[in-house]
Amino acid sequence: MDHLKHIAIFASGTGSNALKIMEYFARHPSVRVSLVVSNRADAPVLAAAATQGVPTLVKHRTDFYHTEELLSQLKNHKISFIVLAGFLWLIPTYLVNAFPRKIVNMHPALLPRYGGKGMYGLHVHEAVKAAGEPESGITIHYVNENYDEGDIIFQARCDILPDDSPNDIARKVQKLEHEHFAPVIENIVS
Ligand code: GRF
Repeated sequence: MDHLKHIAIFASGTGSNALKIMEYFARHPSVRVSLVVSNRADAPVLAAAATQGVPTLVKHRTDFYHTEELLSQLKNHKISFIVLAGFLWLIPTYLVNAFPRKIVNMHPALLPRYGGKGMYGLHVHEAVKAAGEPESGITIHYVNENYDEGDIIFQARCDILPDDSPNDIARKVQKLEHEHFAPVIENIVS
Protein backbone atom coordinates (compact mmCIF):
# COMPACT_ATOMS: atom_id res chain seq x y z
CA MET A 1 0.00 0.00 0.00
CA ASP A 2 1.44 3.38 -1.04
CA HIS A 3 1.48 5.47 2.13
CA LEU A 4 2.83 8.57 0.39
CA LYS A 5 0.91 11.74 -0.38
CA HIS A 6 1.69 12.58 -4.01
CA ILE A 7 1.97 16.23 -5.08
CA ALA A 8 1.89 17.65 -8.60
CA ILE A 9 3.65 20.96 -9.26
CA PHE A 10 2.34 23.16 -12.08
CA ALA A 11 4.91 25.64 -13.43
CA SER A 12 5.45 27.68 -16.59
CA GLY A 13 8.95 29.01 -16.23
CA THR A 14 12.28 28.76 -14.45
CA GLY A 15 11.05 26.52 -11.67
CA SER A 16 13.42 27.63 -8.91
CA ASN A 17 10.60 27.12 -6.39
CA ALA A 18 9.58 23.82 -7.97
CA LEU A 19 13.16 22.58 -7.62
CA LYS A 20 13.34 23.62 -3.96
CA ILE A 21 10.09 21.78 -3.29
CA MET A 22 11.22 18.63 -5.15
CA GLU A 23 14.49 18.61 -3.21
CA TYR A 24 12.69 19.23 0.10
CA PHE A 25 10.41 16.21 -0.35
CA ALA A 26 12.91 13.95 -2.16
CA ARG A 27 13.45 11.76 0.94
CA HIS A 28 10.38 12.83 2.94
CA PRO A 29 8.71 9.97 4.86
CA SER A 30 5.14 10.76 3.76
CA VAL A 31 5.10 13.34 0.94
CA ARG A 32 6.54 13.17 -2.56
CA VAL A 33 6.53 15.38 -5.66
CA SER A 34 5.35 12.83 -8.23
CA LEU A 35 4.62 14.97 -11.29
CA VAL A 36 5.54 18.33 -12.81
CA VAL A 37 3.04 19.82 -15.26
CA SER A 38 3.88 22.72 -17.58
CA ASN A 39 2.12 24.61 -20.35
CA ARG A 40 5.43 25.18 -22.15
CA ALA A 41 7.50 22.40 -23.74
CA ASP A 42 10.62 24.59 -23.37
CA ALA A 43 10.11 25.52 -19.71
CA PRO A 44 13.37 25.08 -17.72
CA VAL A 45 11.30 23.57 -14.89
CA LEU A 46 10.99 20.40 -17.01
CA ALA A 47 14.77 19.99 -17.02
CA ALA A 48 14.82 20.61 -13.26
CA ALA A 49 12.25 17.82 -12.81
CA ALA A 50 14.38 15.50 -14.93
CA THR A 51 17.38 16.08 -12.65
CA GLN A 52 15.16 14.97 -9.75
CA GLY A 53 13.76 11.95 -11.59
CA VAL A 54 10.26 13.44 -11.44
CA PRO A 55 7.92 12.64 -14.39
CA THR A 56 6.69 15.62 -16.41
CA LEU A 57 3.65 16.48 -18.54
CA VAL A 58 3.23 19.31 -21.05
CA LYS A 59 -0.37 20.43 -21.50
CA HIS A 60 -1.67 22.34 -24.52
CA ARG A 61 -4.35 24.97 -23.97
CA THR A 62 -7.12 23.07 -25.79
CA ASP A 63 -6.58 19.87 -23.80
CA PHE A 64 -6.13 21.79 -20.55
CA TYR A 65 -9.37 23.77 -20.85
CA HIS A 66 -11.59 21.64 -23.05
CA THR A 67 -10.94 18.09 -21.95
CA GLU A 68 -10.62 16.41 -18.58
CA GLU A 69 -7.69 14.32 -19.80
CA LEU A 70 -5.51 15.95 -17.14
CA LEU A 71 -7.74 14.55 -14.38
CA SER A 72 -7.03 10.97 -15.46
CA GLN A 73 -3.32 11.75 -15.81
CA LEU A 74 -3.23 13.17 -12.28
CA LYS A 75 -5.10 10.09 -11.07
CA ASN A 76 -2.59 7.80 -12.79
CA HIS A 77 0.13 9.51 -10.73
CA LYS A 78 -1.99 9.24 -7.52
CA ILE A 79 -1.93 13.03 -7.15
CA SER A 80 -3.92 14.31 -4.17
CA PHE A 81 -2.54 17.86 -3.99
CA ILE A 82 -1.53 20.49 -6.54
CA VAL A 83 1.04 23.27 -6.06
CA LEU A 84 1.18 26.20 -8.49
CA ALA A 85 4.74 27.54 -8.62
CA GLY A 86 4.76 30.16 -11.33
CA PHE A 87 1.95 28.71 -13.45
CA LEU A 88 0.55 31.43 -15.68
CA TRP A 89 -2.76 29.92 -16.76
CA LEU A 90 -6.03 30.29 -14.84
CA ILE A 91 -7.09 27.00 -13.22
CA PRO A 92 -10.30 25.69 -14.86
CA THR A 93 -13.39 24.99 -12.81
CA TYR A 94 -13.27 21.22 -13.38
CA LEU A 95 -9.85 21.14 -11.71
CA VAL A 96 -10.81 23.45 -8.81
CA ASN A 97 -13.88 21.25 -8.19
CA ALA A 98 -11.89 18.00 -8.41
CA PHE A 99 -9.36 19.26 -5.83
CA PRO A 100 -11.33 21.30 -3.26
CA ARG A 101 -8.87 23.15 -0.96
CA LYS A 102 -6.19 20.94 -2.46
CA ILE A 103 -4.64 23.48 -4.81
CA VAL A 104 -2.32 26.21 -3.50
CA ASN A 105 -0.49 29.05 -5.19
CA MET A 106 2.28 31.36 -4.14
CA HIS A 107 2.11 35.01 -5.19
CA PRO A 108 5.21 37.25 -4.92
CA ALA A 109 3.41 40.09 -3.11
CA LEU A 110 1.19 40.73 -0.07
CA LEU A 111 -2.31 39.95 -1.43
CA PRO A 112 -4.97 41.19 -1.72
CA ARG A 113 -2.93 44.04 -3.20
CA TYR A 114 -0.74 43.63 -6.30
CA GLY A 115 -2.51 40.53 -7.55
CA GLY A 116 -4.80 39.57 -10.41
CA LYS A 117 -4.44 39.11 -14.15
CA GLY A 118 -1.12 40.26 -15.55
CA MET A 119 0.44 40.66 -12.11
CA TYR A 120 3.34 38.23 -12.30
CA GLY A 121 7.14 38.34 -12.27
CA LEU A 122 8.74 41.77 -12.41
CA HIS A 123 5.38 43.47 -13.11
CA VAL A 124 4.50 42.85 -9.47
CA HIS A 125 7.69 44.35 -8.07
CA GLU A 126 7.52 47.34 -10.43
CA ALA A 127 3.98 48.09 -9.18
CA VAL A 128 5.07 47.75 -5.53
CA LYS A 129 8.06 50.04 -6.16
CA ALA A 130 5.93 52.59 -8.05
CA ALA A 131 3.49 52.70 -5.13
CA GLY A 132 6.35 53.50 -2.72
CA GLU A 133 5.49 50.56 -0.46
CA PRO A 134 7.72 50.20 2.66
CA GLU A 135 7.51 46.39 2.46
CA SER A 136 6.59 43.49 0.21
CA GLY A 137 6.59 39.72 0.62
CA ILE A 138 4.90 36.48 -0.36
CA THR A 139 1.38 35.11 -0.08
CA ILE A 140 0.48 31.40 -0.18
CA HIS A 141 -3.23 30.87 -0.74
CA TYR A 142 -5.84 28.33 -1.82
CA VAL A 143 -6.77 28.55 -5.48
CA ASN A 144 -10.20 29.20 -6.98
CA GLU A 145 -11.33 30.14 -10.49
CA ASN A 146 -9.97 33.67 -10.28
CA TYR A 147 -6.36 34.82 -10.32
CA ASP A 148 -4.83 35.26 -6.85
CA GLU A 149 -8.05 34.99 -4.87
CA GLY A 150 -8.88 32.19 -2.43
CA ASP A 151 -8.24 32.06 1.31
CA ILE A 152 -4.80 33.20 2.40
CA ILE A 153 -2.80 30.48 4.19
CA PHE A 154 0.54 32.20 4.89
CA GLN A 155 2.35 35.51 4.36
CA ALA A 156 5.94 36.60 5.00
CA ARG A 157 7.29 40.14 4.68
CA CYS A 158 10.51 41.91 3.69
CA ASP A 159 11.46 45.59 4.01
CA ILE A 160 11.86 47.75 0.92
CA LEU A 161 14.58 50.42 1.09
CA PRO A 162 14.07 53.70 -0.80
CA ASP A 163 16.77 52.91 -3.36
CA ASP A 164 15.72 49.28 -3.88
CA SER A 165 15.05 48.55 -7.56
CA PRO A 166 12.29 46.17 -8.68
CA ASN A 167 15.05 43.57 -9.15
CA ASP A 168 16.29 44.15 -5.59
CA ILE A 169 12.71 43.58 -4.39
CA ALA A 170 12.46 40.45 -6.54
CA ARG A 171 15.61 39.08 -4.91
CA LYS A 172 14.32 39.75 -1.38
CA VAL A 173 10.95 38.18 -2.21
CA GLN A 174 12.52 35.13 -3.85
CA LYS A 175 14.55 34.52 -0.70
CA LEU A 176 11.27 34.32 1.24
CA GLU A 177 9.77 32.04 -1.43
CA HIS A 178 12.62 29.55 -1.23
CA GLU A 179 12.57 29.61 2.56
CA HIS A 180 8.85 29.18 3.19
CA PHE A 181 6.99 27.48 0.33
CA ALA A 182 8.01 23.86 0.99
CA PRO A 183 7.53 23.94 4.81
CA VAL A 184 4.11 25.58 4.40
CA ILE A 185 3.12 22.86 1.90
CA GLU A 186 4.36 20.22 4.33
CA ASN A 187 2.17 21.68 7.10
CA ILE A 188 -0.92 21.69 4.86
CA VAL A 189 -0.43 18.28 3.26
CA SER A 190 0.71 16.31 6.28
C1 GRF B 1 7.59 33.19 -8.16
O1 GRF B 1 7.76 34.59 -8.04
C2 GRF B 1 6.31 32.79 -7.50
O2 GRF B 1 5.97 33.58 -6.37
C3 GRF B 1 5.31 33.03 -8.59
O3 GRF B 1 5.96 32.70 -9.80
C4 GRF B 1 7.37 32.81 -9.61
C5 GRF B 1 7.99 31.48 -9.94
O4 GRF B 1 9.37 31.63 -9.93
N1 GRF B 1 4.18 32.20 -8.39
P1 GRF B 1 10.27 30.32 -10.22
O5 GRF B 1 9.97 29.86 -11.62
O6 GRF B 1 9.90 29.28 -9.20
O7 GRF B 1 11.68 30.80 -10.04
